Amino acid sequence: MIYTKIIGTGSYVPKKMMTNDDLKEFVDTNDEWIYSRTGIKERHIVTDEETVDLAEKASLIAIEDAGIKPEDIDLVIVATVTPDNYFPGVSQLLQARLNLREVMTFDVNAACSGFLYVLNIADKMIKSGAYDTALIIGAETLTRLTDWRDRNTCVLFGDAAGAMIITKSDTNNIKDVICGSRGDVDDLLICKNVGIKDPVVNAVGMQDHIHMKGSEVFKFATRILPKTVNDLLDRNNMVLDDLDYIVAHQANERIISKAAKDLKFSMDKMFLNISHYGNTSAASVPLAIDQAIKSNYLKKGDKFITVAFGGGLTWGGALIEL
Ligand SMILES: CC(C)(COP(=O)(O)OP(=O)(O)OC[C@H]1O[C@@H](n2cnc3c(N)ncnc32)[C@H](O)[C@@H]1OP(=O)(O)O)[C@@H](O)C(=O)NCCC(=O)NCCS
Repeated sequence: MIYTKIIGTGSYVPKKMMTNDDLKEFVDTNDEWIYSRTGIKERHIVTDEETVDLAEKASLIAIEDAGIKPEDIDLVIVATVTPDNYFPGVSQLLQARLNLREVMTFDVNAACSGFLYVLNIADKMIKSGAYDTALIIGAETLTRLTDWRDRNTCVLFGDAAGAMIITKSDTNNIKDVICGSRGDVDDLLICKNVGIKDPVVNAVGMQDHIHMKGSEVFKFATRILPKTVNDLLDRNNMVLDDLDYIVAHQANERIISKAAKDLKFSMDKMFLNISHYGNTSAASVPLAIDQAIKSNYLKKGDKFITVAFGGGLTWGGALIEL
């Protein structure tokens, strides 16, 4: 039986930091509103860096952390909704930057759930026996898609990348990964930008921005987060008490605390870093896991569930023992 385990993590955020007060320059908002509604105090945003730049820096740290050589990697999957090109993908750009072998590399678009999707895919590809060592990444520059005149959305997002190396193993550490989606409610969180419709007539295309029905997304998130945790526990004949921690997608502290309350799980065991980074989409979960491990919040032997939700609508969760 082939199992999988995490052998290295890394993360990176751009240098430029924007506080809630800095946002007043763009929109009618204030620190009190943003912090009390979301838990966000500041976020990091790109200036001249692109998504691949963030992915590269996070990957180099993860590779070093894993103690492997770049040539050991035989699979690269990048979760992003902010690729630098339609093609080549961030994964191919990254392959060149890291001097990897001529291995399979591809991008996955599942918005803020993206990292759970790439973890699910890589986990199953390694467990199939076809691949040995995967570099998986969530990397986003969502602030490049943000409408800086829309206070409903621009206060929420930040840029980051998180990377993870997973390999085949004799021990069962990545125990289960599940994902789901509902395309029928796509309009709750959407960014339409797929080229120009009727390009002969409309020679100049309009760049679209993120549109969100905030309170409906909130309701979806607070329902799907505990449901995904309970689904994972049921599938693995476990109960909540068997878990040491939950590392949830950092979209809104109120979503995380409502889920903890509904699950009857201590808030002390819900990892939080949202105040410093905001919602970094697909980077949120690997950034959180990397910081949780490096700060010794998560320790060897700990059992945790990581869970995310996002545009699509999409969601995913993983049960992991470190
Ligand atoms: C976006 C969100 C924080 C808004 O919080 P809310 O309590 O639902 O607030 P509402 O949207 O009802 O807005 C309340 C008021 O605040 C105003 N407001 C919205 N954004 C504001 C801001 N940044 N600063 C000040 N006021 C703001 C609204 O215009 C509204 O004013 P009105 O009552 O005069 O119309 C919340 O709905 C949320 O977090 N949703 C989930 C979003 C999410 O996680 N998306 C990503 C998923 S991956």
